[in-house]
Amino acid sequence: MRRPFIAGNWKMNLSREEAVALTQGIVEQLGTTDIEVAVAPPSVYLDAVGQVTKGSGVGLSAQNMYHEANGAFTGEISASMLLDLGCKYVILGHSERRHILGETDEEVNRKVLAALAAGLVPIVCVGETLEQREADKTQSVVQQQCDGSLAGLTNEQMSGVVVAYEPVWAIGTGKVATPEQAEEVHADLRRLLETRYNPEVAAAVRIQYGGSVKPDNAGELLGQPNIDGALVGGASMKVDSFLGIIAAAK
Ligand code: 13P
Repeated sequence: MRRPFIAGNWKMNLSREEAVALTQGIVEQLGTTDIEVAVAPPSVYLDAVGQVTKGSGVGLSAQNMYHEANGAFTGEISASMLLDLGCKYVILGHSERRHILGETDEEVNRKVLAALAAGLVPIVCVGETLEQREADKTQSVVQQQCDGSLAGLTNEQMSGVVVAYEPVWAIGTGKVATPEQAEEVHADLRRLLETRYNPEVAAAVRIQYGGSVKPDNAGELLGQPNIDGALVGGASMKVDSFLGIIAAAK
């Protein structure tokens, strides 16, 4: 059984005060749950948010990192620095980083390998643009992103990775993929993992869906056999809606 995993990606939003208050609300109201839960605040608030999540059922995630361990890389943050702040996870290859910041599969791959080597759980994002979907390229785009971003991983390493399928056209648009559209890609992804890794790994890897997940659509999405959680943007920045999505995962 794959344990459902709901993560909130706050992107470049919130003030320090808002981030801490939001975290306190989530931690206090979460209660006991079997669901794995994490929040990914902006890196400058990881320390403050981590003080609140410490010892709670909410894990701390970064939104990005650099693959080198240390050195002259102005503005970058390493895996060990994230561990220092109490991070357990790091989101890698988010479509905003791929499309706005120009991150390539090769760069994502270096980061994934460095994160795993340091003991972080990478949440590796893949997903097609609207243009690619309309050109019937969803499967090939997602496959290429997976193969590129996850190149060279052993079975054991892959079992420590979370994959997030986030169709770019559904991110922040309110246009959610239908449960059937999402499940189709998730099932394709799992079949791809079966061809690349052993069957146990393919069966164990969690694949989150991301893109306009809200409390009212989460239940149906998370009810699909290959959708094992959600990576939530907008709706993760309100205590009620984030908890509503977690409740829908139960
Ligand atoms: P929204 O939930 O705001 O569409 O964002 C999804 C996302 O990009 C999470 O990483």
